[in-house]
Amino acid sequence: EHTDMPKDKGLDHTLQLLKEGYFFIMNRKDKYDSRIFETKLLGEKAICLIGKEEAALFYNNDKFSRKGAAPGRIQKTLFGQGGVQGLDGEEHHHRKAMFMSLMTKEHLSEIQNMTKEEWRKELNNQSEEVNVYNTSKLILTRLALRFTGVPFKEEEAEQWVDELSDMFENAADIGPKHWKARMSRNKAEDWMMDLVERVRNREVQVNQNRALHQFSFHTDLQGELLDKKIVAVELLNLLRPIVAIAVYVDFLVLALHDYPEEVEKLKDSDKEKLLHFVQEVRRYYPFFPFTTARVKESFDWNGYNFKEGTLVLLDLYGTNHDPALWSNPGQFYPDRFEEWQASPFDFIPQGGGEFDIGHRCAGEWITIDILKETLDYFVNEISFEFPTQDFKFSMNDIPALPESKVEIRNIKVK
Ligand code: HEM
Repeated sequence: EHTDMPKDKGLDHTLQLLKEGYFFIMNRKDKYDSRIFETKLLGEKAICLIGKEEAALFYNNDKFSRKGAAPGRIQKTLFGQGGVQGLDGEEHHHRKAMFMSLMTKEHLSEIQNMTKEEWRKELNNQSEEVNVYNTSKLILTRLALRFTGVPFKEEEAEQWVDELSDMFENAADIGPKHWKARMSRNKAEDWMMDLVERVRNREVQVNQNRALHQFSFHTDLQGELLDKKIVAVELLNLLRPIVAIAVYVDFLVLALHDYPEEVEKLKDSDKEKLLHFVQEVRRYYPFFPFTTARVKESFDWNGYNFKEGTLVLLDLYGTNHDPALWSNPGQFYPDRFEEWQASPFDFIPQGGGEFDIGHRCAGEWITIDILKETLDYFVNEISFEFPTQDFKFSMNDIPALPESKVEIRNIKVK
């Protein structure tokens, strides 16, 4: 009684996924003229979804679960094991609240101030050429350590940069870089576990409002402290992605180079204009390709059968570039956000649905605030030039980054 979904022929399509990168799901949507199809990845049957209604389906907690949804190799590098990403139901809601309780107005405005402070410290007296990507990773690492309350000496920040970057730069890699990412994760987790123990023994003093304190003394639904390894994983779930915002910073500065007519609109620091530019950076440039879940219990949707346990991918990049949702999706046009209705399902660079009971990114507000302050700093506080360089980026690297990682020079405070 149900229709067969369009299906990729062949035994496995992992290689095509690596080759087609961010376009893998979009290409098949066009080929099959369908927002839902079946393929095979890493030897397993997978259903792919793209679009707004499809995102609404994907974020229905009654139908999908996250347990065992992320591939093992991604858990061992990017996410860590036992963290919030793989939890469901009440347990997820309770753990997620631990994250969301940090996202207060006060904390966000503190982060905005820290962002400007760190950029000024790093660039205001800079006479050398600067690599925007590497420099943002460093300032974001300092910001992340300050925000979470992790004590550090200036020279230790550089070590943290390397380990935290390895986890997101090499997570999708197969081969030696994957193993390097795993080693960095293990090292960072050990470092964090030791710190958590010392916080619990009161050997280290830490501000009660900071994540380090909050997570170390967080109790689960049974009233127990979390295993210190889980605390380490969750602290890294703050530190790592804050540093990963450097990817967006790099694209943001690339956009300053590529769209000077849009930059003109930002010169009086209008908050709305800054926000729309940042939103367009997050919509237009590639970062997270898709997210994954598993069918909780078999169900039918629009005539298609979803069988219990099946792996399901939701195309994040593709939904942000869906011509049914965005006019001229291939054009960089920040003013489009004047019209945007703030649906939780059509603009999903950091996932869709709800923050509290869904898996939408806990750090979305932090990301937007850091990017807005960074944009205002680069446009209105300094002037600089772009030396000749290769700005091209490849749509099958995850994360994609401009070849030169964006170099600027001749920085002067305005
Ligand atoms: C989840 C993207 C920054 C913390 C996610 C998800 C995506 C994402 C796609 C999964 C959504 C889903 O599966 O439904 C990004 C991108 C970022 C970013 C592109 C830009 C750098 C941040 C920051 C933080 C953060 C700055 C923390 C301060 C988290 C956490 C989750 C998450 C804790 C898991 C939420 C859950 O499972 O309930 N993010 N994120 N992310 N993100 Fe982010």
